[in-house]
Amino acid sequence: MLVLGVESSCDDTAAAVLADGRKIVANIVSSQDAVHSPYGGVVPELASRQHIRNILPIIDAALKQAGAGVGDLGGIAVTRGPGLVGSLLVGLSVVKGISYRWRVPYVGVNHLEAHLLAIFLHREIEFPYLALLASGGHTLLYVVRDFGDYRYLGGTRDDAAGEAYDKVAKMMGLGYPGGRVIDELSKSANPKAIRFPRARMKKGAHEFSFSGLKTAVWHYLKEQGGSAAPTAEVAASFQEAVVDMLVAPTMRAAVELDVKRIVLAGGVAANSRLRKKMTAAAASEGLELHVPPPALCTDNGAMIALAGYHMLRRGLRDDLYLNADADLTL
Ligand code: KG4
Ligand code: ZN
Repeated sequence: MLVLGVESSCDDTAAAVLADGRKIVANIVSSQDAVHSPYGGVVPELASRQHIRNILPIIDAALKQAGAGVGDLGGIAVTRGPGLVGSLLVGLSVVKGISYRWRVPYVGVNHLEAHLLAIFLHREIEFPYLALLASGGHTLLYVVRDFGDYRYLGGTRDDAAGEAYDKVAKMMGLGYPGGRVIDELSKSANPKAIRFPRARMKKGAHEFSFSGLKTAVWHYLKEQGGSAAPTAEVAASFQEAVVDMLVAPTMRAAVELDVKRIVLAGGVAANSRLRKKMTAAAASEGLELHVPPPALCTDNGAMIALAGYHMLRRGLRDDLYLNADADLTL
């Protein structure tokens, strides 16, 4: 069965075609980075307008790449939340229109669920697994027990990990999105050059916190002024603190809950230092670690099609009354 997946929850317009819930036959992501970069963050109104411009050409291009027509689809999956409501409504409205006109069933997908399952686009793994979902909007830990069966463990008390990357990059004048830039810049620098503080959370709480670190970088830059360490050293030292604060609670949760497999998901899972340190930490505890390739960690339509495929298989269908939900939880 072919499923079209459509994603427009934030600043990427994406569409993909997935065969039988596993094989990507088309995957197109149109980034809006150039539009938002001058502002150091996503401007919601500009994002919605870009989605309106891009969405039909992107869907057409995905179908063309797959060599399929709308009539060949067994279903359509579209992100219905969480995200920016104006952005979400563009994808949802277009999919409702296509579904109604061509009589193809559709389902609204939770963006978080799609990230948690994205590993299956890369390889089949066994349930249960502990998933760390770290993106621009979320930093969450879940135990994934089956398709559609998720146990929430905890999340960030303040900023998301990706948000911290983006805000620190903005402070340092590195543009948006900050994660990839800081990742690249850090490769040439000593991550121990500056010792930024790590937030320590209550034992057993499965929580994260990044706003103190962000403030510490801000104070460091302000106090040091022109004599601050080279940009790459600040970036690498900041990144080291973020990575430590992601690895420690994840490992603690895996050991406490006796889960043998860890999966990384979300845009921050594309980070090379996180992948490296998590690999070492998992190996030292004798745990499996599974990480999708970077392009499947960041937002894409294939993960939406995958989550939607499993919903359609369970007999789920949505109707034209479905609304976008900016604060949708899992
Ligand atoms: O999952 P995603 O594409 O969109 C959301 O659902 O938020 O994640 C985007 C976030 C941004 O904050 C971006 O800075 C971060 O992921 N990101 C990275 C890297 N690539 C993207 N953070 C650290 N290292 C990277 N290589
Ligand atoms: Zn995302």
